[in-house]
Amino acid sequence: MSNQPVLTVEHLALTIGGAVIIDDVSLSVAKGEMLGVIGPNGAGKTTLFNLISGVMIPTTGTVGLDGRDVTNQTIDSRARAGLGRTFQTSSLFPALSALENVRLAAQVKLGGATSVLRFPRAHDEASTISRARLDEVGLSHHSETVAGVLSHGDKRKLEIAMLLATDPSVILLDEPMAGVASGDVAGLTEVIRQVHHSGRTVLMVEHHMDVVLGLVDRVAVMHHGQLLACDTPDAVMADEAVQKAYLGAPL
Ligand SMILES: Nc1ncnc2c1ncn2[C@@H]1O[C@H](COP(=O)(O)OP(=O)(O)OP(=O)(O)O)[C@@H](O)[C@H]1O
Ligand SMILES: [Mg+2]
Repeated sequence: MSNQPVLTVEHLALTIGGAVIIDDVSLSVAKGEMLGVIGPNGAGKTTLFNLISGVMIPTTGTVGLDGRDVTNQTIDSRARAGLGRTFQTSSLFPALSALENVRLAAQVKLGGATSVLRFPRAHDEASTISRARLDEVGLSHHSETVAGVLSHGDKRKLEIAMLLATDPSVILLDEPMAGVASGDVAGLTEVIRQVHHSGRTVLMVEHHMDVVLGLVDRVAVMHHGQLLACDTPDAVMADEAVQKAYLGAPL
């Protein structure tokens, strides 16, 4: 991890119909860092990711990627600049095999045709990348399995493989453990750890505190659209404002 910021958010705010959804949030993420984003339901975590990835444009404030202001750029343009994200709800094609799902993502990145009607040639570039990505998330044995029948844990791994196929340098994961059986959490946690250790910058919204605290370098705490704290897990856990925000909901 270097001290060089790869992602900077400055005085970000979003107001919808008079309601303040994101309230003056500033944070900076170093290259290679892993940042956890926590906070109660409705705190603004997904909205923050939406603003960073370009799904939404802020009312005021800026988003910088690799030193470039991308605040008003499209999702595609940010993706080309190396920003990738998964969504809180699943975004797989359930009737396609695991390999075909990753292959579609790889083809988008390579700029080729995205038709799955043509039988994929075994050794073309997209297939090679896709097999490597499936291997990276430990799903090689399921390459021909239809995505819809995979366990929730394997579906999440597949979504990560699809994301990796677009070769992002900064990854936003929105609740990767959502819906995953408790027995599969450890395996998925290891996959995310590997994704981070391979040199990528990772931001992860997650409600499983044990997962967050065991993985991340720093934790950002959102509450009522504000950034309550952003520090090492130990410092955040000891923060009075954080304790107060979570009163009744044990950390
Ligand atoms: N497009 C929108 N229009 C109006 N309100 C919105 C919109 N998107 C989000 N909100 C509101 O903004 C607040 C923050 O929502 P957000 O989804 O970012 O929370 P979250 O921290 O991700 O919550 P969760 O943990 O439940 O996923 C909520 O009160 C939500 O109802
Ligand atoms: Mg959310």
